Amino acid sequence: MTALAFAAIVSLALAHPHSVGRDYGTYPDFVHPANGDCTDYTIQTNVTFPSLTYAYPKWKDDHDVAAFLFNMSTKDAAKGSFQPYMDPPQNVTRTYGVSATFCSPKSKNGKEDNVIVATHGGGYDRRYWASSFQPEKYNFVQAALGAGYSVFYYDRIGIGRSQRISGFDSQIAAQARVLNSLLQSVHAGTYTPKITAKKVVVVGHSIGSFITNAAMAVAPELADVAILTGMGYPSASDPAKGFSSYVFSFFGVRIAAQLPADRAPQFASTYDTGYTAFGDMYRHIESFFHHPDYDYEAAEYAQSITAPNSATELTSVAAVSLVAPGFKGKVLITSGNFDLLICNGNCTDTYAMGNQDIVFPGTKPDTYVHPGAGHGVNFGHNATGFYDHILRYIDSSI
Ligand SMILES: *[C@@H]1O[C@H](CO)[C@@H](O)[C@H](O)[C@H]1NC(C)=O
Ligand SMILES: *[C@@H]1O[C@H](CO)[C@@H](O)[C@H](O)[C@H]1NC(C)=O
Ligand SMILES: *[C@@H]1O[C@H](CO)[C@@H](O)[C@H](O)[C@H]1NC(C)=O
Ligand SMILES: *[C@@H]1O[C@H](CO)[C@@H](O)[C@H](O)[C@H]1NC(C)=O
Ligand SMILES: *[C@@H]1O[C@H](CO)[C@@H](O)[C@H](O)[C@H]1NC(C)=O
Repeated sequence: MTALAFAAIVSLALAHPHSVGRDYGTYPDFVHPANGDCTDYTIQTNVTFPSLTYAYPKWKDDHDVAAFLFNMSTKDAAKGSFQPYMDPPQNVTRTYGVSATFCSPKSKNGKEDNVIVATHGGGYDRRYWASSFQPEKYNFVQAALGAGYSVFYYDRIGIGRSQRISGFDSQIAAQARVLNSLLQSVHAGTYTPKITAKKVVVVGHSIGSFITNAAMAVAPELADVAILTGMGYPSASDPAKGFSSYVFSFFGVRIAAQLPADRAPQFASTYDTGYTAFGDMYRHIESFFHHPDYDYEAAEYAQSITAPNSATELTSVAAVSLVAPGFKGKVLITSGNFDLLICNGNCTDTYAMGNQDIVFPGTKPDTYVHPGAGHGVNFGHNATGFYDHILRYIDSSI
């Protein structure tokens, strides 16, 4: 290692007071699925990635957030006036602590050596995949274990029980390299007791699908099948713009640590001002649910487990290459038909335009539009129907 690189790592460590793998406490309702043998891990990952540096002043309060939202939403922003990062990205190596859970099925049917690796999206932590509220209806991990698969799921860096990083530093390229590092560990069997992964299936939701996609663009050999939920690729002629400026306005974002306690996400005080949360539950519902396809109690539970978003993580989607020509496995792109964030309310229309074929030229992506649901399919009425479709797709792909 050169002296310069070493100095960079040391100063980084000093700049971030939270030590690697620090535990932020248990979730009040973090329950391992009853049909799994599950182990929690704190994993140290070392990753090298092209790092973006945030160019605007860091926010102090919601006036700054409002100014940021204004800046990114204008027609001049669409023409290029909004430039949140300094050029060019700098390659950096960093060490991040990741909090993860691995479960293998208690009842084995021969499929347990196929490991699903799930990356949650914005607004949540890993509990998006493993609801403790009515798990027979809303728990993807439980459904996958029931079908015989093993599942590895984790909190994205910065979020939940994983290591805190500044919300102004969080970015897709880093998250994708962390996923690749975790996938290498899954192949090596480091965190999958008694299981030797034969096939690895990557599953994402929303920003977690962008991270999964970016990971497959960098290291396509690390997975055999990709399931990207809450996902789509609007073409230039699609009125939907994917994760663009309007997403932040739908969320009604406010600085997470400054929200009143009854609207603040868990561990709110541990996030710096670069992290924002839904302004209130109805912002969350408008963005992730579709009336009348959900139970109010499910939405209230989903609100109770929300995690903050880093604005720079969301805007950095535009800075990574998603095109993954080296990925030759099966790919399923899917969401609720009424996904507002990705498809602007109609995924049938967005998928029909076919942009997913450009992102995965080495294979022929499949698409599935789940009836009735919005962006956060896992908490909609027919979430189990969604899981069935995904698990049957995996059955036929491995
Ligand atoms: C990560 O890098 C640090 C510093 O270079 C090193 O001490 C540590 O052993 C590495 N950890 C892993 C898991 O490779
Ligand atoms: C908004 O844009 C103006 C003009 O480019 C810039 O001076 C200001 O710092 C930006 N504010 C935020 C919060 O991004
Ligand atoms: C960063 O690394 C990539 C791949 O190793 C290389 O192509 C690129 O030129 C590097 N960028 C900088 C700014 O050094
Ligand atoms: C969604 O788009 C499709 C294809 O353009 C169209 O047939 C359908 O009516 C639209 N759905 C709604 C609810 O507008
Ligand atoms: C529930 O999901 C399944 C997909 O597995 C779908 O075929 C079915 O039509 C859905 N049911 C309703 C009521 O939308």
